[in-house]
Amino acid sequence: MAQSIWLFAILSHLTSLAACISVTSTRYWNITNDPQGSARLNGLAFQQHALATFNDHQYVAVYSTSPKGYGNHYVNLGRRRVSPTVGEWQYFAFTDYEQKTLDEHNTISMGISGDGKIHLSFDHHDVPLNYRASTTGIATTLPSSWTQSTFGGTIMHSLPGSTGPWTPLTYPRFERLPNGDMLMEFRIGKSGAGDSYMHRYSSSTGQWSPVGKYLQGQDNNAYINGLTATPGPEGHTVFVSWTVRETPDASTNHDFYFAYTDDDGRTWRASSGQPVAKPIVPTTPGVKVYSIPQNSEIMNQEAQCADDEGRFHALMRDRSAGGPARFYHYLRTPGSSGAFSKRAINVGISTPPYLSYRGKIAAWGDNVLAILPDAPKSTVTVWAATAGQDYRDWELLGTIANMAGEPGVDYERLERRGVLSLFVRQGGAFGERKVQVWDFVLAA
Ligand SMILES: *[C@@H]1O[C@H](CO)[C@@H](O)[C@H](O)[C@H]1NC(C)=O
Repeated sequence: MAQSIWLFAILSHLTSLAACISVTSTRYWNITNDPQGSARLNGLAFQQHALATFNDHQYVAVYSTSPKGYGNHYVNLGRRRVSPTVGEWQYFAFTDYEQKTLDEHNTISMGISGDGKIHLSFDHHDVPLNYRASTTGIATTLPSSWTQSTFGGTIMHSLPGSTGPWTPLTYPRFERLPNGDMLMEFRIGKSGAGDSYMHRYSSSTGQWSPVGKYLQGQDNNAYINGLTATPGPEGHTVFVSWTVRETPDASTNHDFYFAYTDDDGRTWRASSGQPVAKPIVPTTPGVKVYSIPQNSEIMNQEAQCADDEGRFHALMRDRSAGGPARFYHYLRTPGSSGAFSKRAINVGISTPPYLSYRGKIAAWGDNVLAILPDAPKSTVTVWAATAGQDYRDWELLGTIANMAGEPGVDYERLERRGVLSLFVRQGGAFGERKVQVWDFVLAA
C-alpha cells in the first residue's frame, strides 16, 4: 500500500516534469543599428510580420538609418538558412525609397506566399498603401545573390488585381493560408473611426482580389490582436480578436471581441458558431466575449495565436479585476460551443505600466508561450504553460536584458522547427542600440 502511494507520487512528479518544456540552447544575432531618434520604427506589436520563416530560410524586415542620416531610413531585408543548420545572414537595403516619418505607426510588415513571393508593406499612418512584392519564387528557388535587383519590383499604391479603398491606410498585416494563398488586412480610416478591409492573394494566379470590409466602426474602430489561420492543410479556420476604441485616446479601449471564418473572410461567425452579418460592427450580436469597461488600461493590438489542436489563444491586459493591470490568457477550445476562459497569467514580472510595451503569445504543440516585456526592468521574459495543466503551470524559459520594444515572433519556425525565434529591439543610445534576433531552441 505504502509502496504504491510512493510509486504514484513519483510517477505524478515525473509526469509534471515531462509536461514542462525546456530551452536547450540560446543564441542571438545583431541585425542592424536601430535608427537614430526617440521614435521606435522597429519592434511594434502590430508588425505581422517582421521575422518569418519559409521552407528552410528565415527573413527579417528592418529599418536602418540611411546614409543621409537622422530622419532618413531604408527598408532592409535579411535572409539566412535555418535548416538543417543555421547559416550567415545576408542583407540588402531598398535604396529607392527613403522613409522619413519618425512615427511609431510607420513600421514594416512582411508576408511570404506559397509561390515564394515576398510581400512588404511599410510606412503608413493614415496614408495611401505602400506595397512591393518580389519576383515569384525568390523564397522557393533561392537566387544566390541577395540584392534589390534580385528582389525586383517597384513600389505600388494598390494591390494588383484588387479594388480599394487604399487610403487612409494603417497597420497592414499578412497571413499565409495553408494552401499558399495569402490574406492581407489593414485599417482604412483613423484612430477612433476606422474599418478593416481584407484582400486575398492567389498563389496560382499571382493576383490579388478583394474579400471586402469585414470590421466596421460605429464612430469607433476595432484594433485587432492579429489575423491567424490555423495550421492546415484542410478545413482551416481564420481567427480574429479585437478591442474597440472610441477616440484617439487609448483609455477609451473597451471589451474583448472575437469572430472566425471558415471561408477566408467571405463569411463570419461568432464564437458560438452563429453566422454574423459582414461587416461586423461592435454591436453585432455574439461577437463581444468579455465586457471590459473603458479606462481599464487595455492595450490595443496585443497578441493572439492558434495551436495545432485548433485552440485559439489571446494575450491582453487590463485592470478590470481592480488593482493593477495584469496580463490575461484568453482561451477558446474547439468543441466547447465557443465558450472562452480568461485567466490571469501568474508570473513574476512587474505590473505592466499603462501603455507599456506589448507582449506576444505563441503555441508549440500543447504548450503556450507568453513573451512578456517587463518594462520597468527593461527585459523581455519568456514563459511556458501546458494544456495538460490547464495553462496554470507558467514556467520561466528565458530572459533577454536591455530591451526597449515589443517582441516579434517567427510563428512558422516555432510551429515547424521547435525554435522560438524573437525579433527584439535593445535600449540604449543610437549607435549602440541594436535590433536583434534571438533563438531559443526548445525541447519537450
Ligand atoms: C552585438 O553588438 C554588440 C555591440 O556592438 C557587441 O558587443 C556584441 O558582441 C554583438 N554580438 C554579436 C553576437 O555579434
